[in-house]
Amino acid sequence: MIHKTNSDKETKAFAVKVAGMVSELKNKRAVVISLKGDLGAGKTVFSKGFLSAFGIKKVLSPTFVVMKRYNLKGSEFKHLYHFDCYRLGSPEELEVLKIKDILSDPENIVLMEWPEKAGKYGRGKNIIINHGKTENERLIKTNLVI
Ligand SMILES: Nc1ncnc2c1ncn2[C@@H]1O[C@H](COP(=O)(O)OP(=O)(O)O)[C@@H](O)[C@H]1O
Ligand SMILES: [Mg+2]
Repeated sequence: MIHKTNSDKETKAFAVKVAGMVSELKNKRAVVISLKGDLGAGKTVFSKGFLSAFGIKKVLSPTFVVMKRYNLKGSEFKHLYHFDCYRLGSPEELEVLKIKDILSDPENIVLMEWPEKAGKYGRGKNIIINHGKTENERLIKTNLVI
């Protein structure tokens, strides 16, 4: 489905809905949500909404650090990892950050911006954000039923 938004607020509200159904995706490995879209599409805005649903208010964009880890309280998941792979030189750089352990732990949620740069580590449920017809319009595409 494609969901249309017209502001940061609407994109964040949609992200909160996605966050609300993550527990349904709980499995033998981490739940991974992949965020695709051009620079400025709204991946980080979406991430802020998504993290806010888990009580995380202060979100630092992981653009320069590649990964940020948050401990979750009051959730069936223990950690939420927010990756921004834009600056990765190669997917193998993620191995230093223990990506294999992170992806194999069912108690983790992984939100990954630029999964295209993560090679074989870039998997999961896709959310694709595209610019719409007007400056603030965004079209958010996903196979998730929300
Ligand atoms: N409907 C919308 N949804 C999300 N962001 C929007 C929207 N309309 C305008 N914007 C703006 O687009 C930019 C998105 O930036 P950001 O989330 O950092 O992009 P990305 O992480 O995809 O590179 C922000 O400046 C935000 O205010
Ligand atoms: Mg970003």
